Amino acid sequence: PDLSAIINLDDFEQAFAKVGAKKAQAYISGASNDLLTLNANKSFWQKLWFRPRIMRDVASVSTRTRMLGCEVFMPVWICPMGIAKTAGEEGERALGAGAARSGIVHCMSTAASMSVEDILSSAPKTYPFFFQLYVDRQRHKTEAVLAQINQLDQIKALFITADLAVVSKREADERIRTQEITSVYSSQEKSRIDKKGAGLARTTGGFIDPALNWDDISWVRTHTNLPIVIKGVQSAADAWKAMEMGCQGIVISNHGGRALDGAPATILVLLEIRRDCPEVFEKMEVHIDGGVRRGSDVLKAVCLGAHGVGVGRPFQCSVLYGTEGVETAAAILQDELETAMRLCGVTNLEAARGDMSYLNTSELE
Ligand code: FNR
Repeated sequence: PDLSAIINLDDFEQAFAKVGAKKAQAYISGASNDLLTLNANKSFWQKLWFRPRIMRDVASVSTRTRMLGCEVFMPVWICPMGIAKTAGEEGERALGAGAARSGIVHCMSTAASMSVEDILSSAPKTYPFFFQLYVDRQRHKTEAVLAQINQLDQIKALFITADLAVVSKREADERIRTQEITSVYSSQEKSRIDKKGAGLARTTGGFIDPALNWDDISWVRTHTNLPIVIKGVQSAADAWKAMEMGCQGIVISNHGGRALDGAPATILVLLEIRRDCPEVFEKMEVHIDGGVRRGSDVLKAVCLGAHGVGVGRPFQCSVLYGTEGVETAAAILQDELETAMRLCGVTNLEAARGDMSYLNTSELE
């Protein structure tokens, strides 16, 4: 399909489903077991209604904001996703360049298909990035990664992914066999194709340390000065714990339904944190990802108190069209966000952050 025919984020996933390699498609669109959490992430955004205000002079609105010290054009970041080359030749370079041209930040994955330097060089020299860390069973390897990241001024935050203590069962991915392993990081490991199948996620994720625990935050601290963001928070209790540990942020995430199937839709966790420990929003940045497909979803998240929203699969699929695809995906989201703001009577996102008066949550209570 022609890029000009694409008008929303789902179109990117559908385009990729038509022309992408079957294995890549299974890896990207797939999720755990029965896809309960995958489907809930998306459908729960649709159970939250606006309470629009009218006659408020919305002639001029701005989507600009700050997150983790970075000025951004809208409160959206590109999720860390492994082996982006499975989606298109330019891989992570398209995500980096597309993000920079759109004024948003790409959080690069430990399991990228190219080196950190390669990805950074896709954007202007001072353009910010975030780095996502999977902690390796062999801790010295993680220390080496952190030492490398410390040298790179463009990296502004460290997202530690904590929701995938073990790689989950992704059946679509496991059913299609391949020997191909393209992650730069895990290519140091031997592929472990066995009778469980050959899921790309599983064969590239075997190095992740299941022993990771809260005490390790102080170990990470001794190896980085970057703001630490815990990605994969799924309860108010763990949001509280991250705050107590002095982290600078959290991402409410269930890995896009790719970790525990049956984990709650991320928006339910956001509501739980608001209810049980609202202090969290004052002490650190609260981000969310999972099933965000519309600018109106972004506005809902902001009104619930989120500082930023991660978008995953649609951006990965947009790599099919290279940098231009990524830029188009961001432009669509930005335009939808601006329209939703105008129609809801919101001119300034900072002022609207956490303002529940724009929302009706009764379907979720
Ligand atoms: C991911 N995700 C992910 N997360 C992470 O911390 N490190 C990683 O390497 C990956 N890899 C990865 C690959 C692919 C193909 C997908 C789809 C996802 C999870 C990702 O960062 C994010 O949490 C979800 O993708 C968000 O959900 P949506 O927007 O895809 O619904």
